[in-house]
Formats: sequence, C-alpha cells, structure tokens
Amino acid sequence: MKLSKEEYKKMYDKALKNFGKAEYRLFFAPSRINIIGEHIDYNGGKVLPSAIEMGTYALVKKTKRNVIRLKSLNSNYYKEVLIGSEYASERGWVNYPLGVINNIEQRGYEIGGIEGVIYGNIPTGAGLSSSASLELLIGSLINELYNDSKISLKELALIGKDTENNFIGVNSGIMDQFAIAMGKADKAILLDTESLDYEYVDVDLKDKLIVILNTNKGRRLIDSKYNERRAECESALEILKQKYEIKNLCDLDISQLDEAIDYLEDENQRKRLRHVVTENARVYQAVDALKSGDMESLGKLLNESHYSLRYDYEVTGKHLDEITSAARISGALGARMTGAGFGGCGIALVEKDAIEEFKIKTEKLYKESTGIKPGFYVSKIGFGPKELEV
Ligand code: GLA
Repeated sequence: MKLSKEEYKKMYDKALKNFGKAEYRLFFAPSRINIIGEHIDYNGGKVLPSAIEMGTYALVKKTKRNVIRLKSLNSNYYKEVLIGSEYASERGWVNYPLGVINNIEQRGYEIGGIEGVIYGNIPTGAGLSSSASLELLIGSLINELYNDSKISLKELALIGKDTENNFIGVNSGIMDQFAIAMGKADKAILLDTESLDYEYVDVDLKDKLIVILNTNKGRRLIDSKYNERRAECESALEILKQKYEIKNLCDLDISQLDEAIDYLEDENQRKRLRHVVTENARVYQAVDALKSGDMESLGKLLNESHYSLRYDYEVTGKHLDEITSAARISGALGARMTGAGFGGCGIALVEKDAIEEFKIKTEKLYKESTGIKPGFYVSKIGFGPKELEV
C-alpha cells in the first residue's frame, strides 16, 4: 500500500497548518509479518519475517531547538516534548519517538529536533509491529537528517529494540525491528536471533499469496502475557542448563525434546518448551518448502505453527483461532497467527484466483462465530526504511 496522493496531501496540509511552509522531507518505514518462527526470537531461535509495503510515514523538518513536535493523522494526541525527557505513560505514542531519539543521543550520535506529521496505514496494535515501524521510522529519519546515514541499519534495529525494552518497558525480542530495518522486496529474512546472522530467502509463492487477516480484536502487547511467557521460558532454561550445555532453549535439537521435557516438572514449562523447540524446527522446514516451491508443505507448517501456539504456548485466543479456522475452511492452504498473538492479525496462504471468494467465506464464518467484521490486506513484501520523493 503506497502513500496515495490524498494521503500525502492530508499530511502536507496538517504540517502546513501546524508548522508552516517549509521544505518537508518524506520518510517511510515498513511494517512486518512473520511467516513462521513465533515467540522464539527471545529463545535464540531462527525466525522468518518479511517487511511489507504497508507501514508508517513521516513528513518532517529539522527544528532549531531539541524538541519533538509531531502531529499524527492517526491520533489526536499532541504534546511537544523536549529530547532527553523521561518516559511518561500519559505521553502515549510520543514515547516511541522520544525513546528512539534519546537512545541515539546516548550512543554519541548527532540528534536534533523534528517537527511534522506522522501517518500509518497499518492498523495499530494489531500484531503487525506498528510500534517497531514507528521506531525505525524515527531512527532512520534522524540518521538521514542529522547523521549523513552513519548509523547502520542493524544498529537502528538494535536502537529500536533497546527503546522497546528499556524505555517503553516491553521485553520483546529483536525480530520486528530487524525485519523492518533489513526488509527487501520479495524476500523473507532468515534471522538467527542469537548471532544476528541472517540470510535472505526468496518468497516466490507461485500462484498463491499471503493474505493478512485482521481479527479486529485489539491487543496491547504491553498489557499482555508476553512478559509472562518470556519468564516461563527463562525459568525452564535455568533448569535445563543444569542438564545440557545450552545458552538458549532453541539450542536443543528436536531429537532431545522428549528427554528435556522430562526434566521439567511444571506442566506449563513443558508445554512452552515443546512449542519453542518444534517451532524452531518448523522454520527450517518452511525455508526448505519455500526454496523448493512446495506450497502444500508451507501451508501445513503454518497450520502446525498455529496449533502449537494455541495448545502449547497458549497465546492465540478465541479470535485468532476463529479467523484462522475460518480461513482454512474457506480454502487457505494454511493459516496462523502472526506476531505476539492475544488478538491482532493472522496470515493465510491462499490461491490467487480464489481470493475474493476466500474473503467472502472467511468473513461470513468469522462474523458468525465472533460478531466482528474482519479485515483483509494483501501486501507485497517490501523494502526497509527509506526517504521517499515528495
Ligand atoms: C512481538 C515481539 C517480537 C516477537 C513476537 C513473537 O512481535 O515484538 O520480538 O517475540 O512478538 O514472535
């Protein structure tokens, strides 16, 4: 979804009205989907996300003072904030730009104030990483405006994660920020979340495409059980470290799983471990399926991933279960939740020619079971953050 002329005009008009006539520059950062490898980026696993063409835009200029003055087309909230200020929950989304800019300054890079307008064409809080998109948007535009692009994309990803973990207070992994920073058209990123080594994998889905399924059931990562799952994994790891030479749960091979499970007494820990180790194995299988163009197998892996997240990791919830099940009944080769879960979005692998019928059927079934109208997006796999021509 590119920025349309109308959307650009809305941004420009708002900038003009609030900050006056000037040479504004336009920046973009994508959003992401995760094809497979869920809830293992904080367990040293491999993940397979892609940046998508939807995302967040900023039309901004430099300011003389070190202030952030950002209006948004998506929210009425506005507050001017001094760079260097502390986190404050009442500042809402403005904490993200603030946290990122503070972080860049703490690393010794040049920073300065910005004013302008932000706009996102992804649903916020829907599991497509609107927050990481905003973090990378701000990081990359500060890099362009003040640093002649000296900060590498990888470091920008780490700045985003650092902001999320230590400023916002969500203990997320590196997947989202990395996927957004390193996005490439028609590629998935096979990322080793321990070493940060990565490889691009072609996403050629033949006559199929990935449809994003929005449950329209919002979730807030920060309020969710995300940190709880993480803690469960950490405590399982502590126990297993006494038995195995491992740094992360994903260092366990699938052949060691049954034995490792027996070392754990807590039923929840046992289930979490089963998800983590099997999911990591599915990532390798999904890469093989993509490389050999085997869409049937890819679809099957998506389904298995979802069931594992549902029964063993317990992060899906009614709405994601209903929408993925509706998608399967309506002809998808496979469907799973994507992102943190607890509401938000799923993805489905669907025959291109059958897409309209797929949407109608899925919508009907999902509405019957939840009373909610779902959303569907088909987005190309796109590039990472960049400055756009105005
Ligand atoms: C969120 C986090 C990621 C990752 C996913 C689950 O999107 O930000 O780091 O843990 O959940 O795979």
